[in-house]
Amino acid sequence: MSDATNGAPHRASGVSRFVSFEGIDGAGKSTHIDAVAQRWQRAGLEVVRTREPGGTPLAERLREMVLHEPMDPLTEALLIFAARRDHLQQVIEPALARGAVVLCDRFTDATFAYQGHGRGFDLGLLAVLERWVQQGPSGLRQPDLTLWFDLPAAVAAQRLVQARAPDRFERQDEAFFQRVIEGYRARSEAEPARFARIDSSQPVEAVAAQIERVLAQRGW
Ligand SMILES: Nc1ncnc2c1ncn2[C@@H]1O[C@H](COP(=O)(O)OP(=O)(O)OP(=O)(O)O)[C@@H](O)[C@H]1O
Ligand SMILES: [Mg+2]
Repeated sequence: MSDATNGAPHRASGVSRFVSFEGIDGAGKSTHIDAVAQRWQRAGLEVVRTREPGGTPLAERLREMVLHEPMDPLTEALLIFAARRDHLQQVIEPALARGAVVLCDRFTDATFAYQGHGRGFDLGLLAVLERWVQQGPSGLRQPDLTLWFDLPAAVAAQRLVQARAPDRFERQDEAFFQRVIEGYRARSEAEPARFARIDSSQPVEAVAAQIERVLAQRGW
């Protein structure tokens, strides 16, 4: 599901704009990613809109397994990071190198929040995999900005009720999602410069305005 969604020629951005969209299921990530893409397309930039797990043919196949087949937590973590490696090499790094904006629906923070805090998988081991998989020539690759859509688990569940059939993660109970939220909070406190918390309990237009303020604050 990786697509450069506007036509050539593009103006190279000159700055790295790798933006991840994070938050629990139903928090509002998909609702806002297109508008953010259009904002930069209007400015003449190439925008690559992608997602994790996934973003390449191989990673999308791994996604199907992770979302729908029962497996032990280490297998799950390894598949997610394998998908991430392929995604970085095939899509994200080449896009950033040519000056494109990359908008990614979930990235590594989701692995820490879901597999780590949600499922209780070893955070130290996830950090090892993070270093292995995201190490590049100029250091550890992370998003330049992470928009964290923060919403109480009960509200998100309510919003999702009519949206679609639940997958393996969405069938988890509210306590699971509460732990995932705490995982995002821990990641955001560890890297406050990278994270922007978006209060997703507000109406869609107000959430969009918060996002615009965050982008404007960065001069983007
Ligand atoms: N601010 C809002 N107020 C009310 N409803 C909203 C708001 N933002 C999104 N929604 C609705 O909530 C539902 C979930 O939103 P969305 O699909 O964007 O969440 P998501 O974070 O992408 O979830 P997932 O991780 O499951 O893909 C959708 O039906 C959407 O229309
Ligand atoms: Mg979504």
